[in-house]
Amino acid sequence: MKNFFKDDFLWGASSSAFQIEGAWDKDGKGMTVADFNSFKKSAVQADSKIASDFYHHFKEDIALMKELGLKTYRFSLSWARIIPDGDGEVNPQGIDFYNQVIDELIANDILPFITLYHFDLPFALVEKYNGWESRECVDAFERYAKVCFEAFGDRVKDWQVNNEQNLMIRVNERMNMYHVAPEDAERVRAQMDYHMFVAHALATNACHEMIPNSKIGPAVSSTMTYPSSNRPEDVWAARMNDNFKTNYALEMYCFGAYPGYYQQYLNQCGIYPVTQPEDDGILKAAKPDFIALNYYRTLVASYLPVDTEHPFGTKVNDIDFDLYGYFKIEKNPNLQATEYGAQIDPMGLRLVLNDYYEKYRLPLIITENGLGTADQLTGDGCIHDDYRIDYLKNHIAACNDAIADGVELFGYCPWSVIDLLSSHQGFKKRYGFVYINREDHDLKDMRRIKKDSFYWYQEVIHNNGLK
Ligand code: BG6
Repeated sequence: MKNFFKDDFLWGASSSAFQIEGAWDKDGKGMTVADFNSFKKSAVQADSKIASDFYHHFKEDIALMKELGLKTYRFSLSWARIIPDGDGEVNPQGIDFYNQVIDELIANDILPFITLYHFDLPFALVEKYNGWESRECVDAFERYAKVCFEAFGDRVKDWQVNNEQNLMIRVNERMNMYHVAPEDAERVRAQMDYHMFVAHALATNACHEMIPNSKIGPAVSSTMTYPSSNRPEDVWAARMNDNFKTNYALEMYCFGAYPGYYQQYLNQCGIYPVTQPEDDGILKAAKPDFIALNYYRTLVASYLPVDTEHPFGTKVNDIDFDLYGYFKIEKNPNLQATEYGAQIDPMGLRLVLNDYYEKYRLPLIITENGLGTADQLTGDGCIHDDYRIDYLKNHIAACNDAIADGVELFGYCPWSVIDLLSSHQGFKKRYGFVYINREDHDLKDMRRIKKDSFYWYQEVIHNNGLK
């Protein structure tokens, strides 16, 4: 295979604060929405209280990253570790922890690539303002972003504002929408989404103003949808599924306005968010330097006849929501799926990379991609995860193809660097290159054990691509 990865390609790996750090209330940290929701499931699976205990193991974990050969580590800061109640006092111990992590990474020649917010809104902001429903949350986020740029911007130039706003907004528990009446849910959701876009733009602008040579962009949950047939209506449904799930958000990040189809949806449902006169200028001024995308699977959609009662009403079935009148999500008989239903599709990655590059003409980086399953520690003390190696190999080949197609792809950060708390399935579902010797309710010895995929990825990085 001809190798198209440039010499400075950023081979990396990913994590997020509430999934890896543990120490959920240590040294002044406040509770987050992610903590709150994970605690609700504590009886049945691991929660964020200890997670992978990166807080106490970060030197050992960064040494493993160095051994793996990582050029970059994509991770998030916990807003509530830095500002425990979201918009009050800055916690010096939180700043100190991340200073240590950043310095340790740099000392090991690993570029810190930081997300400001990965599903973990400080819970105090929910109690005070109903979270993103309120404009106060926008101000709080802008201040938090500035605190981070001020504290870390001398060493950290590469940032993502938030992780998967476009997916997070569809999941009620991530937005802590428990107080919202079902009939008002879509209006509140649209307002929260809009506030997050304004906050995103304010943080982007602040980063550019405060940190010389900085680069900042969004990290989206990417979507690639195939039509279930060659009926034009099904092709339209597939297009609309991508538009409503991801492209509307990319349009807002890149061009500072909702596209026509999205404005029409908001207006027809009578849920156009409340805006402020200055927003337009803020949104238009914010220009991302790149697009980060998370890619796990592709979807299939069919057209549904218009339901006159709910012409655009959204039905939320956790992650894959259908817009009545447009589409229905189906299985792809041509693809294999993981045991959790994610349809494995390396070609879909090549397609999505080409699609985003053609539309937005920005450099791209993959900030998540990986296979989650219940790895087994075998009698020989190893984890033989050849299924993960296959998955990653095929997706890296797709990246190589996309670069050959002309896509400016500058990095690949699989999920996840080490095993961590799954956002849905505790410690049962593992993605890491390094096994953490714990179970949901048995912490065992928390030992770090390199999986077969660790040694394989080490070779890939060493060779700057597949051989
Ligand atoms: C992404 C999230 O959507 O998917 C991660 O950014 C998450 O936080 C990952 O862990 C995998 O999902 P899950 O539910 O398998 O952990």
